[in-house]
Amino acid sequence: MSNYILLVGPPGAGKGTQAKRLSKQLGLPHISSGDIFRENLHNETELGKLAQQYMSRGELVPDDVTIRMIAERLGRPDCADGALLDGFPRTPAQAEGLDEMLAKQGGRVNAVLYLKLSEPTLVRRLTGRWMCRAQGHIYHQEFKPPKEEGLCDIDGSDLYQRDDDRADTVRNRIRIYFEQTSPLSQHYRDRNLLMEIDGEQSIEVVTQAMISAIGQEARS
Ligand code: AP5
Repeated sequence: MSNYILLVGPPGAGKGTQAKRLSKQLGLPHISSGDIFRENLHNETELGKLAQQYMSRGELVPDDVTIRMIAERLGRPDCADGALLDGFPRTPAQAEGLDEMLAKQGGRVNAVLYLKLSEPTLVRRLTGRWMCRAQGHIYHQEFKPPKEEGLCDIDGSDLYQRDDDRADTVRNRIRIYFEQTSPLSQHYRDRNLLMEIDGEQSIEVVTQAMISAIGQEARS
């Protein structure tokens, strides 16, 4: 049986942090729309150049482009039995696009984990975040500092701050989230799939709450 789990919540809620942990524990591939856009940007593809125009302002990349990109990724063999989707869908049109993609593969969304946090916590998390250049491992100057300043604990690559984590862009991303993405929670609440998780707790406690919510055993 397939297992498609969505992680939704505002910017800085901890979706990426949790997706990396759950992906290992549940043995599901982690598909992050933001990471795919950033990879394209880094490789200077046409998709990357287009996405950058929106990302730099904290706006959403148009639905048709995003849906096509995720459909291509979910069509690869590693996603045949399920995936952990982080940051997609973000609009009702993307949610419908996802339902269609999964239906074609004989699957469906099994659970939606919705991280809830206050706005001051989100701003603090984003403005203190550092990312590893090589593989996108996530750190925080206060809550998850690296052992050696400026270097990733796991692969030793440089840490950098994302362009869209500047205070002005962060506020725009949060505003856009509440305008355009929060209606999505109703879409999944109506289908009895939405599970709310208190995202203000520690990283470990949030992971445990997610595993309990989806009622699955961790593999390690
Ligand atoms: P994306 O990369 O998806 O960004 P986001 O949704 O804004 O989310 P973030 O990655 O900023 O935060 P997160 O929730 O993953 O938090 P994290 O785990 O890093 O999207 C970027 C852009 O791409 C969008 O603005 C848009 O332009 C475009 N885009 C992407 N998807 C799209 C789509 N579907 N449609 C259209 N456009 C799209 O944690 C944050 C910090 O907090 C870290 O420093 C971490 O160490 C720390 N932290 C995490 N959890 C905890 C905890 N429990 N306690 C203490 N600290 C914690």
